[in-house]
Amino acid sequence: MKTIHFSTKTCYLWLLLGLHTIIASLASPSGTHHSHEFVIQTTPVKRLCRTQRILTVNGQFPGPTVQVRNGDSVAIKVTNAGPYNISIHWHGLRMLRNPWADGPSYVTQCPIQPGGSYTYRFTIQNQEGTLWWHAHTGFLRATVYGAFIIYPRLGSPYPFSMPRKEYPILLGEWFNRDPMIILRQTQLTGAAPSVSVAYTINGQPGDLYRCSRQGTVRIPVQTGETILLRVVNSALHQELFFSIANHRMTVVGTDAAYTKPLSTRILMIGPGQTINVLVTADQTPGRYYMAARAYQTAMNAAFDNTTTTAILEYIPRNRNVQPSTPILPLLPAFNDTPTATAFTSGIRGLSQNVVFKNSADVNLFFTVGLGLIFCRNPNSPNCQGPNGSRFAASINNNSFVLPRTTSLMQAYYQGIPGIFTTDLPPVPPLQFNYTGNVPRSLWTPIKGTKLLKLKYGSSVQLVFQDTSIVTTEDHPMHIHGFHFFVVGAGFGNFNPSTDPARFNLVDPPVKNTIGTPPGGWVAIRFVADNPGIWFLHCHIDSHLNWGLATALLVENGVGPSQSVIPPPPDLPQC
Ligand code: C2O
Repeated sequence: MKTIHFSTKTCYLWLLLGLHTIIASLASPSGTHHSHEFVIQTTPVKRLCRTQRILTVNGQFPGPTVQVRNGDSVAIKVTNAGPYNISIHWHGLRMLRNPWADGPSYVTQCPIQPGGSYTYRFTIQNQEGTLWWHAHTGFLRATVYGAFIIYPRLGSPYPFSMPRKEYPILLGEWFNRDPMIILRQTQLTGAAPSVSVAYTINGQPGDLYRCSRQGTVRIPVQTGETILLRVVNSALHQELFFSIANHRMTVVGTDAAYTKPLSTRILMIGPGQTINVLVTADQTPGRYYMAARAYQTAMNAAFDNTTTTAILEYIPRNRNVQPSTPILPLLPAFNDTPTATAFTSGIRGLSQNVVFKNSADVNLFFTVGLGLIFCRNPNSPNCQGPNGSRFAASINNNSFVLPRTTSLMQAYYQGIPGIFTTDLPPVPPLQFNYTGNVPRSLWTPIKGTKLLKLKYGSSVQLVFQDTSIVTTEDHPMHIHGFHFFVVGAGFGNFNPSTDPARFNLVDPPVKNTIGTPPGGWVAIRFVADNPGIWFLHCHIDSHLNWGLATALLVENGVGPSQSVIPPPPDLPQC
């Protein structure tokens, strides 16, 4: 057992077997101040029979787990000792009135340049559960990510019996090339990025890949005990199914909000989402695989069809008996949308969470999906998308382009003109049969940096409508600075006159990332009580890169308690 150097005055992590982290609950009271140092650096890592140099935080992959309590304050000094511009996003943390700490490059800050540093300072306000942090620059989050765990205030109870042992389970995608080179390639060719060569659990592909057996993550359990798994989908582009052989799981939370207990054999988890599950070691002592593989909804698209595993291992193990090969769980077929939908729609929030029940002040209807830009010369090396095109993606036909000379937030705060406009249409500029056979003339979006302005305190209903342009697909839609209630979902086109009557306003789950059913819609509600500029995008990074994004500009309300705080002096400049 060794303490790792990331540890600070108040946080302690233990690395057991060097493979997975057992996390002891924090001993500190809430209100504690945590300070951490994150050094972004290039680190050689051996995976799949090869040593690759990847970007890490403090040489760790996955990066350090941050553990805090509700009410704590945090300062994380990020130093960029790597070769790329980078910034870190604290995914799901609300950052009330403090967009400066949110982190997406060119949205709330300029990236930290090589050699530079920036200290993210923020307070945890009324959030509990599992979140995570990741790089928010290009495809760098492929290797730069870690868990962010928020415990309740000391003495404040969990709505379930909290196990003594818990493990983060970070699902990832492994690429055999520098992810930034893959990104550049797609930007050059207009084609889809090359797919991953492995999935990983806590950075390890597991037994089913070449040269990986030694590193396979093992989670020890004693017969009869219950453990908490904090499952995070940190994959760059892929929704995943997750299951544990012979064991049921009980979902108790998603995206840092508690849920009603839901017993299940299968999780479907989209990039950006987190799911907390209880697992009881109630089977014959032995070794059982936990496994994840793709849930793939885009049609005719290449994807990584491999399976990552870790081992749930009953201890003590009989040392005289050779360990048997663990049993593999049965995972759904890659295109099993009914199973994915049954799982997602089965999640219910705690009814004490309050969603507004009257009609919203603002009704937004966003079409989300892919598009194609057809080239004049279809044989151009820059047009290697379908039929001599370049891939694009959009919200209400606007394909989002990030600024390059400053961030949106800096431009807004300093009144720099010409960086963005606030004319994103709140409804599609043209109505069409979104999930039908869409005429080719509607396949090409317009590029722009269009934001949507919201008045402070307005109640917002937002329907994300997937389109069948290029392909229908599950788009995990994420909003920074907010969590929201998922009040409804369905297949086909949203019907504003019949569907709202069936909304769940009693116990909707609270999320920060929710997928559109492929060829369907999902409706969310939230109150715009966080002033600032907040990125809203598909958490599949290839889609984000193609423009499936916008940002919400929430205006200041009345007085300082409803206004954005001033930027810190060390905020990076472009
Ligand atoms: Cu987890 Cu904008 O991202």
